[in-house]
Amino acid sequence: MAKPTNTQFDIRGVNHLALVCKDMAKTVEFYRDVLGMPLIKTIDLPHGMGQHFFFDIGNGDSLAFFWFPGAPEAAPGIASPQGLPGLGSLMTAHGSMNHIAFNVPVEKFDDYCGRLKEKGIKLSPVLNHDNSPNQVSATVTDEVFVRSVYFFDPDGICLEFAAWTADFDESDVAHDPMMADGRKAEGMITAHGKAALAPAE
Ligand SMILES: [Fe+2]
Repeated sequence: MAKPTNTQFDIRGVNHLALVCKDMAKTVEFYRDVLGMPLIKTIDLPHGMGQHFFFDIGNGDSLAFFWFPGAPEAAPGIASPQGLPGLGSLMTAHGSMNHIAFNVPVEKFDDYCGRLKEKGIKLSPVLNHDNSPNQVSATVTDEVFVRSVYFFDPDGICLEFAAWTADFDESDVAHDPMMADGRKAEGMITAHGKAALAPAE
């Protein structure tokens, strides 16, 4: 399939994702010293509003953190997942940042899992996502499209290392989206719907 392109805006990945930490020193230790992300910009915000630090995550993209004096405490189950995928509940509130997946090369995936464990990070089981009824595979088969492992940062922000193992095609876009009332917007995506929406002859 020809690679889908955005005809409206020339968007080039993520400039930065801004998150909020409780302790910027611990955040620097974790992201720079444990995960190795270069700290590329630090800002003391004016009028005692806090700090804003940026870490390079490759590809010209970055992960940013705010530290705000007197910010509300972490809210697991609302602002971030209560448990790691495969171990606990994934559900979070509308508008929350559920998790961020960093792209890693598939040939380095297993080595990286070992390296994270050696650094004392508690990992989820490796989830090889596929199109089977359970949507995960114990082994890497031709059906697997992404390999994932999850862990928490010091504030309970859920992180993922993810490696694509397949290209998508038209068959990968096959589900109508849910609406707020729990019904599916029938025909918005599916071929059946497209046929149904075609103008009458
Ligand atoms: Fe993910």
